[in-house]
Amino acid sequence: MTFTQMPWIDCSAGVMHAEEVSLPALAAQFGTPAWVYSTQALRANWRAFSAALVGRPALVCYAVKANANLSILRIFAEAGAGFDIVSGGELARVLATGVPARKVVFSGVGKSRAEIVAALEAGVKCFNVESAAELHRINTLACGLGLRAPVSLRVNPDVDAQSHPYISTGLRENKFGIPHGDALALYREASDLPGLRVTGIDCHIGSQITAMEPFMAALNKLLELVETLASQGIVLEHLDLGGGLGITYNDETPPSPAAFIGAIRERLDTHPIARKLEAVFEFGRSLVGNAGLLLTRLEYVKHNGERAFAVVDAAMNDLIRPALYQGYHQIVEVAPPPDRPASLYDVVGPVCESGDWLGKNRALRLRGNDDLLAILSAGAYGMAMSSNYNSRPRAVELLVDSGEVRVIRPRESVASMLQAEV
Ligand code: LLP
Repeated sequence: MTFTQMPWIDCSAGVMHAEEVSLPALAAQFGTPAWVYSTQALRANWRAFSAALVGRPALVCYAVKANANLSILRIFAEAGAGFDIVSGGELARVLATGVPARKVVFSGVGKSRAEIVAALEAGVKCFNVESAAELHRINTLACGLGLRAPVSLRVNPDVDAQSHPYISTGLRENKFGIPHGDALALYREASDLPGLRVTGIDCHIGSQITAMEPFMAALNKLLELVETLASQGIVLEHLDLGGGLGITYNDETPPSPAAFIGAIRERLDTHPIARKLEAVFEFGRSLVGNAGLLLTRLEYVKHNGERAFAVVDAAMNDLIRPALYQGYHQIVEVAPPPDRPASLYDVVGPVCESGDWLGKNRALRLRGNDDLLAILSAGAYGMAMSSNYNSRPRAVELLVDSGEVRVIRPRESVASMLQAEV
């Protein structure tokens, strides 16, 4: 068995290995559930984007929200990444890795005063502004500090990302961005405000997008605006196309990083104005999604009438994507018994909700209690969205590098969960 989307998983010896480390050995040493990430995969994903941009001014940012662990941020920082943040907490994480704030873009629809001040004082590369009200708030705070805030307007291009409605952001009906038709007037206003410096244009149309068309449609909308702005004397320095490139969870065939960047580059490099602009991206899922898995252990098999359930020790508090977006994650046996026929199971967790499922109708060859299963493509929006629901401690995070393993966040203890409460 091989997983083309996760080449760092090796099953050649009949037992799954993450790079060179056996998953049963990890489970024995660190317990389950456990997040397992591959250094090799993180670096390779990064290189796929950066290599395609050689020779043109560009900044590939990592969208911290996808997986905010400091060790993961550090891998991208060492590789030369910029960072896309959406909160003061994410700013603090990025600065803690030693990344200069001038490589950080600040997105998000609800930036608070305190967050804006922290970002101004740190000196971020750009605020991706989402409303007129936010623009004025940034201007006032920057004036108060005697600074000029670099700003870019996040334009809502009214493009259908053809993704799950909860993760599509580029339609007029979504809360995100400034309507395409209002952007010009707001740019003019911004260029007259004393606390602002207009530096860019930005959009982000959604996540897990597996076709090129929505991105090209959004880019074309931005380029129209870039032309009009230039004709009115508003000259930009960068164009930020956001993130959103999808990955293979099951049978999706998204453009590869090289194909994606190639198509965008072709359009930018042949455009009279855009060819001089720095191209900025904010990739989350496509950098980390297939670089991680969630290792879990079977607790019980049970049958309710016709239906068979595999009750495992991971749950919706660990990985909420199936419950929240009907997200599909491949689930595989870590050491499949070759002689056993597969049966269909709903893979569910111990949380007291019917929504607590990780996979439905999955063909698995289970031996019995204590079997190990790997939930694949879980590096993005897995641990990052996990919670303590049902008073379950968050799982350990492990980073594998060839034959070595590092605990990059220990398993929470019940004591640590209770500690802050009165
Ligand atoms: N930039 C902005 C402004 C964003 O809001 C996002 C993601 C990204 C970049 C990165 O998008 P990516 O390259 O990862 O698609 N929790 C959901 C995904 C939510 C995405 C939110 N915004 C999931 O598990 O599918």
